[in-house]
Amino acid sequence: MVYPGTRPTVLKNRRILLIVSGGIAAVKIPDLIRRLRERGASVRCVLTESGAQFVTPMSLAALSGGKVFQDLFSLTDESEMGHINLSREADIVLVAPATANIMAKMAHGQADDLATTALLATDKPVMIAPSMNVKMWEHSATKANLATLQDRDIHVVGPGAGDMACGEVGDGRMAEVMDIVAALTDFFVSRAALGPLSGQSALVTSGPTHEPIDPVRYIANRSSGKQGHAIARALADLGANVTLVTGPTQEPDPDNMTVVAVETADQMLAACTAAAPVDIAVCAAAVADWRMAESTTSKIKKTGGASLQLNLTENPDILTTLSKAGSSRPRLVIGFAAETENIIDNGIAKRDSKGCDWIVANDVSAGFGGDDNTVHLITEEGADSWPTLSKKAVADRLATHITDHIKKS
Ligand code: C5P
Repeated sequence: MVYPGTRPTVLKNRRILLIVSGGIAAVKIPDLIRRLRERGASVRCVLTESGAQFVTPMSLAALSGGKVFQDLFSLTDESEMGHINLSREADIVLVAPATANIMAKMAHGQADDLATTALLATDKPVMIAPSMNVKMWEHSATKANLATLQDRDIHVVGPGAGDMACGEVGDGRMAEVMDIVAALTDFFVSRAALGPLSGQSALVTSGPTHEPIDPVRYIANRSSGKQGHAIARALADLGANVTLVTGPTQEPDPDNMTVVAVETADQMLAACTAAAPVDIAVCAAAVADWRMAESTTSKIKKTGGASLQLNLTENPDILTTLSKAGSSRPRLVIGFAAETENIIDNGIAKRDSKGCDWIVANDVSAGFGGDDNTVHLITEEGADSWPTLSKKAVADRLATHITDHIKKS
C-alpha cells in the first residue's frame, strides 16, 4: 500500500462521492473528509437515514463544503443534481462506513434509498470500508455478499481487528482513516499503471495564448482551459504519459503529468515540437490567430486621439503542423473547432483543412468558460452529436474513444 505521505498529490482534484451509512464508525467520517480535502480531493456526501443517527448532515456539509444529499425523492436534489448524475460525476464512489446492511443491498442490487440507488446507477469504481460487529462480519451471509462484491471488482479496505463499540473484540472495525486515504491513493496510482493507455504518450494543448503587444499589453481570448485540462487528466487517468502544454489559465496544474506553461503561440509550438514524437495529440488550446509583426520593447504611447494601427502577422498553426509532421506524426491527432454557427459543417471543413483525424466541434455562441460543453465528434465516419455534458464527462468520453481507436490501430 502506498503511504499517502509519499504521494501527496495523487488525490488532488479527485472527486469522491462518499456514501455514509449507519454504523458507529460514521463518527470518524468528518476526519476522513478533512484528510481527503487537505490532499486536494473534493468530497460530495450522501448520508443514509441510519447514517444520520451517528453523524449530522450539518457537520458533513461544513467539512465537505457542499450540500449533503439525503433524500431520493427530494425535488430540489433531483432538479439540481439527479441521482444518476450524482453517481457519475465522481472519480470513485466510497462507502464508509459500509454496514452489513448496505453490503447486502449492494450485493443484491436493491435500490430503496438515495445511497443504494446511486450505487446501482454508477458507472464509476466503488470502494467500501466495512464496519460491523465481529459476528456480523463473520456471518456466512456477509461473507457471501462480500465475495459477490469482490467478484464485481468492488474495492475493499479493511476492516481491522480491535475493540468494538459493542464491547466485543475481533474483526469488523472500520479501517483507520489514514488507511482509507492510503487505499484511495493506491487505487489512483495503480489505475494509471494498469490503465488501457499505459505505454502511450499523449500531448494536450490547453488554454489561450497571450501575444504581447508591448511590454504591458497583450492579445488574448476567453478560453478557460477547463476542457483541455480535463482531457489531459482523463488520458493520464487511463495510464497515458501526458505532456500538457498550457497557456495562462486559472486551472490548477494536474499532478500526474508533465506540465509546460507557455504564453505565446510560438512558445506553444516549440513546447509541442519538443514533446514529439507522441502517440496521441489533442489540440484543445484556443491559440491566438495573430501576433504583433514586430516586437516592441517599450510601452506604446497614446497618440492624442489619433487611431493606432497594429501590424499583425499570423501565428503558426500547431494542429496543422502536428497533423502534417510526416514520419513523426502522432497516430491520432485531434483538434477542436469552436464555432458559433453551422457547427458540424464548419467542423468537417476544419478537419479537412487541418489534416487532423478527428475534430471536436462545439458551439461557443454562449461564450467560453462554462462547466458544460455540447460537442459533435467528427471523424472520417461522420459526425456523432453528444448530449450536453460536463467538461469532465466530455473528456472521459473522448478518452474512451481514443482508447478504443488506439487499441484497434
Ligand atoms: O483555426 P481554428 O483556430 O478555428 O482551429 C482550431 C483548432 O486548431 C484547435 O484545435 C486549436 O487548438 C488549433 N490551432 C492551433 N494553432 C493555431 C490555431 C489553432 O493548434 N495557431
